[in-house]
Amino acid sequence: MNSPSPSPATSPEEIQRRKLAAAREALAYVQPGELLGIGSGSTVNIFISLLAERAGDIPAVVAASKASETALTAAGLRVRSMDDVSQLGIYVDGADEIDPRFRMIKGGGAALTREKIIAQAAERFVCIVDASKEVDRLGRFPLPIEIVPPARALVAATVERMGGVVRERAGVVTDNGNLILDVTGLDFGDPEALERNLNQIPGVVCNGVFALRPADVCITAGERVTIRKR
Ligand code: A5P
Repeated sequence: MNSPSPSPATSPEEIQRRKLAAAREALAYVQPGELLGIGSGSTVNIFISLLAERAGDIPAVVAASKASETALTAAGLRVRSMDDVSQLGIYVDGADEIDPRFRMIKGGGAALTREKIIAQAAERFVCIVDASKEVDRLGRFPLPIEIVPPARALVAATVERMGGVVRERAGVVTDNGNLILDVTGLDFGDPEALERNLNQIPGVVCNGVFALRPADVCITAGERVTIRKR
């Protein structure tokens, strides 16, 4: 029996088309003369390639990962270190999941700590996703937690007592020199409380629940592009 061919809505080509459509809409949020924040991941990479044509308008960009920094520099944009920036206008980033209140799971690319820092510093967080990232309730995507290496056993045991199933991301060291634990099975009934509770565990640098600082604008590309604001 022949296996069914993937529907056009979920084929890799269609997902790429959708990411491009979302990224293109986000260009409208880039303000000339304003410092811009950029996240990381495949959707953001498409956004960076489109940003090249705006390089003359943008004084500088702060980036959430070394990979994004490299792509931005190649696109002709000036990258500024985040160390001395406490405020910026727009932050554009993708997500691994986003719920109807624009709370997210992020960190699939291991860049969650810098992503959260830039999101917190930004006046407006514009999230660009294809429609496969939209969920009614967070928690299907394994939750990334960045930890300092000596905390591995303690954090794993504590998260397991919270109901989580923990797996260390093999072979991954973050841009900050840390490890990533991917966790399934946690209760996402109150994402803000979960984010706070995980932050309390000694050795946790950052967790991938983005609920306390959700996105402000969500640009979702399905068959059509939808733009929603909080
Ligand atoms: C990176 O650490 C993540 O938070 C990304 O924002 C997320 O993984 C989305 O990536 P894609 O655009 O590749 O799906």
